[in-house]
Amino acid sequence: MEYPEYRPRRLRQNPNFRRLIRETRLTVDDLIYPLFVVPGTGVKDPVPSMPGVYRLSVDKLVEEVREVASLGIPAIILFGIPESKDEVGSGAYAEDGIVQRAVRAIKDGGTDIIIITDVCMCEYTSHGHCGLVKNGDVDNDSTLELLARTALSQVQAGADMVAPSDMMDGRVARIRSELDEHGYTHVPIMAYSAKYCSSFYGPFRDAADSAPQFGDRQAYQMDPANAEEAIREVALDIMEGADIVMVKPALAFLDIIHRVKLEFDRPVAAYNVSGEYSMIKAASEKGWLDEKRTMMEILTAIKRAGADMILTYFAKDVAKLLGA
Ligand code: PBG
Repeated sequence: MEYPEYRPRRLRQNPNFRRLIRETRLTVDDLIYPLFVVPGTGVKDPVPSMPGVYRLSVDKLVEEVREVASLGIPAIILFGIPESKDEVGSGAYAEDGIVQRAVRAIKDGGTDIIIITDVCMCEYTSHGHCGLVKNGDVDNDSTLELLARTALSQVQAGADMVAPSDMMDGRVARIRSELDEHGYTHVPIMAYSAKYCSSFYGPFRDAADSAPQFGDRQAYQMDPANAEEAIREVALDIMEGADIVMVKPALAFLDIIHRVKLEFDRPVAAYNVSGEYSMIKAASEKGWLDEKRTMMEILTAIKRAGADMILTYFAKDVAKLLGA
């Protein structure tokens, strides 16, 4: 049947018809809220390039997480900014490291929410790279040991899930065996499997003070031109034990999200990264875009592409909008 018999507009004519045929629904259940934790007390430091995002000290973070949970958001992901950085990123795996302290404080506060911890070295190393630097390059295999220590110490502090974002080869298997050996067989791994070397991380690196001091991340993060390689990366991470696989960033990689969803039998996460957030904020501050509608359109598109869950700085705004 075709026009004039078939008229698609019939089912778009009013909100109730549109509700009936809507295929994708973004809900608060889909959301993971990223948070930045810094040393000190009483700190709520705005991130200039990310309006509405703050770097919080542990006490403020505990309050914030309570609010996030009360909005019905099921999970947060924590990023730490340590007191001091060194060559070997020791703040990442210190028993009293910033993330470890934050996790314990949230758990002590009794808030019912999943705490995910980002496992990476770049916020903790003086050079800003995601691993140990040897001869001017990030050394894969020695970095794995530090990542495993980091993940274990986060889980010992009470993290419910770990999320390696470093893009070293073999890190999922190394972390899995470290956790299992210490009795944490029940703790899942959400792997940043297809993580691209993206300019959209710019504002995050301001927030986390993690820009590389020399060179860039092209020797470990993926080339945005590649799709087949993303499929290989996801396959490897699943073989190594990833429970959830992530595509990051989201907006410029909807095709990758779609393929990963179709080709693999694992929940798919997508990271709506800092630059994707900031560009909407900036354009709507100028009055060039409608912030809320743009936010919902993009996040719905990420879900439509195949994401089962979305890490997004918009999580609270979405929860408020949907709950209203
Ligand atoms: C750490 C990490 C980064 C992000 C998440 N984990 C930065 C990077 O790889 O440089 C980016 C998140 C965002 O931009 O919102 N490696």
